[in-house]
Amino acid sequence: MNKRQINKKDRVWRWIAAAAVMLLLAGCSREYGEAEKEDTLTPMDENLIVVGVSQVGSESVWRTANTMSLQKVFTKENGYFMIFNNARQKQENQIKAIRSFISQRVDYIVFSPIMEDGWETVLREAKEADIPVILVDRKVKLQDQSLYTCWVGSDFKNEGRMAGEALAYCLRKQGRQRENIHIVLLQGTQGATATIGRAEGFQEIAQKHENWLILEQADGEFTTAKGQEEMERLLHRYKDIDVVVSQNDDMTFGALAAIEEAGKTAGEDGDILVISFDAVKGALKLVEEGKITADIECNPNQGEYVDQIIRKMEEGEAVAKLHFVPERVFVKENVAEDLGEDD
Ligand code: AHR
Repeated sequence: MNKRQINKKDRVWRWIAAAAVMLLLAGCSREYGEAEKEDTLTPMDENLIVVGVSQVGSESVWRTANTMSLQKVFTKENGYFMIFNNARQKQENQIKAIRSFISQRVDYIVFSPIMEDGWETVLREAKEADIPVILVDRKVKLQDQSLYTCWVGSDFKNEGRMAGEALAYCLRKQGRQRENIHIVLLQGTQGATATIGRAEGFQEIAQKHENWLILEQADGEFTTAKGQEEMERLLHRYKDIDVVVSQNDDMTFGALAAIEEAGKTAGEDGDILVISFDAVKGALKLVEEGKITADIECNPNQGEYVDQIIRKMEEGEAVAKLHFVPERVFVKENVAEDLGEDD
């Protein structure tokens, strides 16, 4: 009998322990926020797979879609009992939540790490408690790779490369291959895999173009408000911005507002080219209108992959360490296909 099958037999006892700890923690768990999934244990629940989910926060439209994709699969109908934690952009909240999941003896921990550093200790605690950890979206930097079971998410570096290539394509179309191109970058949360990967991938392509001059990399924290604030500052500081590469659609919405306020226009026929990431519906409409030149998809639908991984593990099957979700680039020419699709 393999380890996961033993865990199945052991689940009744885990439930008794979990019920006791949940009763004790009932008051404290509220502090994790309104997204905390409230539920009650019943004797019928003993066969459910208990999953503790710690999400980064609710900073972006993409994040909401990612949360919904997890909530959609971790239902009682599917055989799960989910304990959800919204970390509100704070690593300390995620660490606290993971420790709470460990003390509740959940069957699996699923979490999207806000940044890559600082997880070694708490993930060792999870390993010592024999709880598999499945990372979604972002990665962790560890000495010991055995501290997590596997990861599901985007190839962020490739997203960055696709952004660079989309820009090169557009500039070629405009016949601007020899012109000096002044670029500003709006970056997401510092230390996050998405920020690091997208910056590295874009730089890789930028280095091949001597005429691309990166004026500044600003920290827009993946939010509309900060994206707008930083773009206003950049427009004030540099009078000759040709391109904005914004690492998510929320910051792009803010940047577009700032561009408009400054009396400038965005798009291939305007003053500033805008390249964005995520490809949420609201942004794809702006691709269609020509305000965003290219939007690099970041696929939020990761729940179904995590479900498949857990089901395999429940059967004692081995799972691959890395699982990449499929992603596309949207430009005016192909965006209609996706806007026609239902959510
Ligand atoms: O880690 C994925 C990134 O995080 C998404 O691009 C962004 O919108 C989110 O907040």
